[in-house]
Amino acid sequence: MEWWKESVIYQIYPRSFADGNGDGMGDFRGIIQKLDYLKDLGIGGIWLSPHYPSPFLDCGYDVSDYCEIGAEYGTMDDFKEFLTQAHKRGIKVILDLVMNHTSNMHPWFIESKSSKDNPKRDWYIWKPNNGTFPNDWQSCFKGPAWTLDKETNEYYYHFFLKEQPDLNWRNPEVKKAMFDSMRFWLDMGIDGFRIDAITSIYEDEELTNQGWTPEEFEEKIKAKNSDSEFTPGKTWDHYMRYQTKQPELHILLQEMRELVDSYSESKLLVGELSDTEYLGDGDNELHMVFNFPLMAEGIDKKTVVNNQKIRLPLHIGNSWQGNTLSNHDVSRIRSKYGKDLISDKSLKHSAFLMATLKGTPFIYYGEELGMKNFNIDDIKDFMDLKSVNLYNSEMARGLTPAEALKIAQLDTRDRCRTPMPWSNEPNGGFSPAGVKTWLPVDPEYTQGVNVADELKDKQSILNFYKDIINFRNHSNILKFGDYEEIPTNDNDLLIFKRTYSNKSLYVVINYSNDKKDLKLFIPNNLNLEWGNIVDKSVIDKGDVAILS
Ligand code: NOJ
Repeated sequence: MEWWKESVIYQIYPRSFADGNGDGMGDFRGIIQKLDYLKDLGIGGIWLSPHYPSPFLDCGYDVSDYCEIGAEYGTMDDFKEFLTQAHKRGIKVILDLVMNHTSNMHPWFIESKSSKDNPKRDWYIWKPNNGTFPNDWQSCFKGPAWTLDKETNEYYYHFFLKEQPDLNWRNPEVKKAMFDSMRFWLDMGIDGFRIDAITSIYEDEELTNQGWTPEEFEEKIKAKNSDSEFTPGKTWDHYMRYQTKQPELHILLQEMRELVDSYSESKLLVGELSDTEYLGDGDNELHMVFNFPLMAEGIDKKTVVNNQKIRLPLHIGNSWQGNTLSNHDVSRIRSKYGKDLISDKSLKHSAFLMATLKGTPFIYYGEELGMKNFNIDDIKDFMDLKSVNLYNSEMARGLTPAEALKIAQLDTRDRCRTPMPWSNEPNGGFSPAGVKTWLPVDPEYTQGVNVADELKDKQSILNFYKDIINFRNHSNILKFGDYEEIPTNDNDLLIFKRTYSNKSLYVVINYSNDKKDLKLFIPNNLNLEWGNIVDKSVIDKGDVAILS
């Protein structure tokens, strides 16, 4: 059973979801206590952001042991109980597989770095020091992608932080070690992986210079569409053409797919990328990629219509679309679309859209409460090293601390990773009163943005999410049905039809502040299945409806 096609998947960022032992950080005991909450919300799968031991310089995406649990999250027994309890409730669990790089504190790298003839030397990408960087490649977190190891006088390659050296995937021992780690968790019963940083797993073997300075790249990005050859996405792809998406990636994915397919239960592989070419022939590479263009471009009618028109036909065979509007790397939905206002219609529109489009909805923890970005105003409290590095480089360029802070605040991913507010008690009920949480709790938990208060309020975002997810869970049409746009010649009225087994639903979103007459576009005699509507043919301002 391809469980992911019919499930809503919820992303848990372990440090911030639920603190079971009261130390200011989330953990497995905490998650276990909240599984009933997730069940009630209608969640069918959990994507767990990294839960492995980690020096935490990239907030867990710098792993120092692939077959262990970070001590701050609990023990292996806690993890196993979490998995059992999730499965008992019909909730699947996928893990984050960070395979492009390790932490520089991983024993593999410590060995590799220890000498040029260490057996693990070739597990990473080392190049001789000829007086300058091996080539002009850049890290996607800014700065050169090469760092000199003074002891052995060679450079190592890192696509991300210098504390995250890239593994050399052309070495068969690396592949074996990582596949063994995958088996370790799969044998324990987990239900698949979200594969991190998948595009950058291989780099060009010839180390071909890519040609632009970082400044030239920035200029091209700023010029945006003025140069028809380079839109921002294409500019990035061109800039990174030797560091990402190398031909061997297809072969690796086919091998990973064979590995997961060798298990009797269905195991999901979803990759952190949006290129549908990595779905292979629809049955032999990833099961699913993320619809990132929608996340980047927005949720207005034109964007949604174009996005679906372009992307849905690219999902061939059994492959499937993963829809999401936020995650641990980007702005919260409310801050992106809703001007930070909890009352903004975009909060409900986005939930509704995720639940009604064709494809699996991925919901980032706290979106169901309408959490917003939270700005930390002291650089010492930042956890995201990427943005601390940015702050330091802006200071070095001569900016004042206040100016550098502003830039770091816009860049930092801390803003969307603050603890989940469970109630209107101190610390939002996340940790006991007086405990310093690992990132601050957004104080607006005192104004109703918390689970307990929202559950009591019929009009809350949380209850909206609950209702629409549970509606979806009972509708094969929404889960599996074909998608067809209904043209409306009205830029604020989105209507599409979902059809399964000869039965259809019409999905309607009114993005405007005016009433809309639906009679002009869809049959007159439909019944309202879900949503707010004035009468059967008129949809009120900003409202949503499902009719059949
Ligand atoms: C993508 C992850 O989503 C991000 O959080 C991380 O910093 C990089 N990959 C590196 O692992």
